[in-house]
Amino acid sequence: MTTTSPVYLDNAATTKLDPAVLEAMLPLMTEQFGNPSSIHSHGRQVRTAIEKARKTVASLLNTSPAEIFFTSGGTEADNTAIRSSIDTFGLTHAITSPLEHHAVLHTLQHLAQAGTIRLSMVDIDEQGHIDLNHLEKLLREHRIAGGPSARSLVSLMHGNNEIANLLPIERVGELCRAYDAIFHSDTVQTMGHFRHDLQTLPVDFIVGAGHKFHGPKGVGFLYVNADTKIHPFIYGGAQERNMRGGTENVYGIVGLAKALEIAYAEMDQHKQHITSLKRRMIERLREGLPGVSFNGDSANIDSSLYTVLNVSLPASELNDMLLFNLDIARISASGGSACSSGSNVGSHVLAALPGIDASRGYVRFSFGKYNTTAEIDYAVDTLVGLYQKELTL
Ligand SMILES: Cc1ncc(COP(=O)(O)O)c(C=O)c1O
Repeated sequence: MTTTSPVYLDNAATTKLDPAVLEAMLPLMTEQFGNPSSIHSHGRQVRTAIEKARKTVASLLNTSPAEIFFTSGGTEADNTAIRSSIDTFGLTHAITSPLEHHAVLHTLQHLAQAGTIRLSMVDIDEQGHIDLNHLEKLLREHRIAGGPSARSLVSLMHGNNEIANLLPIERVGELCRAYDAIFHSDTVQTMGHFRHDLQTLPVDFIVGAGHKFHGPKGVGFLYVNADTKIHPFIYGGAQERNMRGGTENVYGIVGLAKALEIAYAEMDQHKQHITSLKRRMIERLREGLPGVSFNGDSANIDSSLYTVLNVSLPASELNDMLLFNLDIARISASGGSACSSGSNVGSHVLAALPGIDASRGYVRFSFGKYNTTAEIDYAVDTLVGLYQKELTL
């Protein structure tokens, strides 16, 4: 492989649109242009396409279409779940972790600063695992302090986008049920990569974003458990059964449903392919780069978000320029610096991990169905080549 072929290893940030998804979207961008709220035939045609997409998403997740609401993406879905449940149920306490995406963390921190809620952070261990005993203690304490009707909101992500840890989502859901807490799980990174069965999963809210599974950007969805009726987050017209005002992103919605359909149909095959790429990168880096290690659970092949690998590199002057040097070599990866000084904003996830060594270099590679073994080898050879002189291998 030459440096003229760019290598995209940032699939947790976004993924390439599947051509079959584009094909499904095109009619909605051209001939089928009606407003789905219009009652004439142009409108009805597009309304039918939206409802078909809703049915597809619902049936893949084994739930009812009445529980699926389309949004502008993962961030809006997370905001809706958090803000609307706090508003609807008058919640005064929320529990989250320092490892959440900013769509969750900044929303909850804002509500805590405004005095709307008290925010508790659940303890995590060195690897970033959630301490379930501490979670239970926080739930119990809120009940003792506020009486049997005091409910908490728990917001914990299913798959971490930086360190690939997976939440034991069923156990957390059962714990939340036991304490009558509302449970929102940010499933943006696992949607389309793991199966979610909403008949059995004890959750109130989960979310999806089309662009993380080879669908379009700017569209997502929120699952709202039928027993957890909430007020809208965005007020306006009667779209999304009065739950989310605004003319629908119709081609986005149709594209998202098509992308999720493909992801489910091809999941086992893609999981196997992506896992083999990740395994190869881990093994080759261990061979070629003494002192390399991996953050969180990302190198645990059987128990991590298989699309993500967070590489920790020995202390070196090269570390500050790591992403830049990879970019020069036409490799797109993502940062994961624990340093939060100067222009390098750093990763709040790595910074929150107890015992993280800020002198080490960090890079997140994230894989997708279009990646090849040759690309993995090129990325490993480039990384090893960069550090070879420095580490006098
Ligand atoms: C875990 C997680 N939650 C939420 C989001 C936000 O999704 P969107 O970009 O669709 O708003 C992302 C995207 O990076 C994510 O990785």
